[in-house]
Amino acid sequence: MTVSDETIRAEGLYKYFSGKNQKQPIKACEDVNLSIKRGKTLGLVGESGCGKTTVGRLLLRLIEPDSGTVLFQGIDLTLLKQREIRPFRKHFQMIFQESSSAFNPRMKVYDSLKESIKLYTQLRPKEIKEYINLLISRVNLSRGVLDNFVGNLSGGEVKRLDIARTLSIEPAFVIADEPLALLDMSIQSQIANLLLDIQQEKSISLLFISHDLRIVEMLSHWVCVMYSGRFVEYGRISVIRERSLHPYTRYLWNPMELGVSDRLPEGGCIYKPSCYLYQKRGFPLICSESQPLLIEQEKDHFVACHFVK
Ligand SMILES: Nc1ncnc2c1ncn2[C@@H]1O[C@H](COP(=O)(O)OP(=O)(O)OP(=O)(O)O)[C@@H](O)[C@H]1O
Ligand code: SF4
Ligand SMILES: [Mg+2]
Repeated sequence: MTVSDETIRAEGLYKYFSGKNQKQPIKACEDVNLSIKRGKTLGLVGESGCGKTTVGRLLLRLIEPDSGTVLFQGIDLTLLKQREIRPFRKHFQMIFQESSSAFNPRMKVYDSLKESIKLYTQLRPKEIKEYINLLISRVNLSRGVLDNFVGNLSGGEVKRLDIARTLSIEPAFVIADEPLALLDMSIQSQIANLLLDIQQEKSISLLFISHDLRIVEMLSHWVCVMYSGRFVEYGRISVIRERSLHPYTRYLWNPMELGVSDRLPEGGCIYKPSCYLYQKRGFPLICSESQPLLIEQEKDHFVACHFVK
């Protein structure tokens, strides 16, 4: 792969938070490595609190890593001062779960879009109007909404507006953090299809974050499965779909009752307390002795488990 194919690359990212009243730090992100090529989607899936948003914020340098590097089109963002990053901001965008928090509810839709277009593009006033009309129709909103206040829009409409705003500055890299979570089922698939179409049309590199592997599967070319701050499985979607190997990924495909044991030795593999394979194998010592590393098991397929070979 040439560097120019790659929009974003992270190597050895770590981020610990010191929680109040906690002796141990919260290990929100440990040894995270990823790469997203131009026009491709990487799905990031895992349960609540496993560190998905932290990874997203680290990639955009909204928070500082404890260690590790983030390369955007080959440029190491972690070496830049915040003011040196500013020119790059135009190329990154984030779509949040709660799109409404990204807007002023008392602002009209037209003015909200105009504000971000003026900030990031060189368009003249007349061109801005045409551009806004184009964007609004691209996300399947009627022109009537332009005069409405953002606070009056439905959840699905605000999400479309957020996508229009994201698109308006033609970013190279977008992070969509649980963008479907607060929407009705019927709207979810419409928004998912819209995101997919636009991502392909504009060759955007997308990090799609969700706790639902089945949604991630629909949208992604590659998938990483995260558990307690670490990637436990990472691979091309066709491989993860057909031959997922990590016990946690298998659980996500096929949730079952887990007999969680609370009298386990401390340390070792982070997944040990919930791992059916650990129990099935009779609590092997190696699982409590060392954290398995993410190892390439076959082409484009990495797994972190001592018993997957
Ligand atoms: N600024 C912070 N200070 C202290 N702890 C934090 C901070 N940000 C995140 N955390 C903690 O780090 C861990 C990972 O949080 P993160 O928000 O990345 O999880 P997530 O996978 O995005 O969860 P969710 O699916 O609920 O959004 C959590 O335990 C969280 O409480
Ligand atoms: S290393 Fe052991 S505890 Fe960890 S996932 Fe594999 S079998 Fe389960
Ligand atoms: Mg989150």
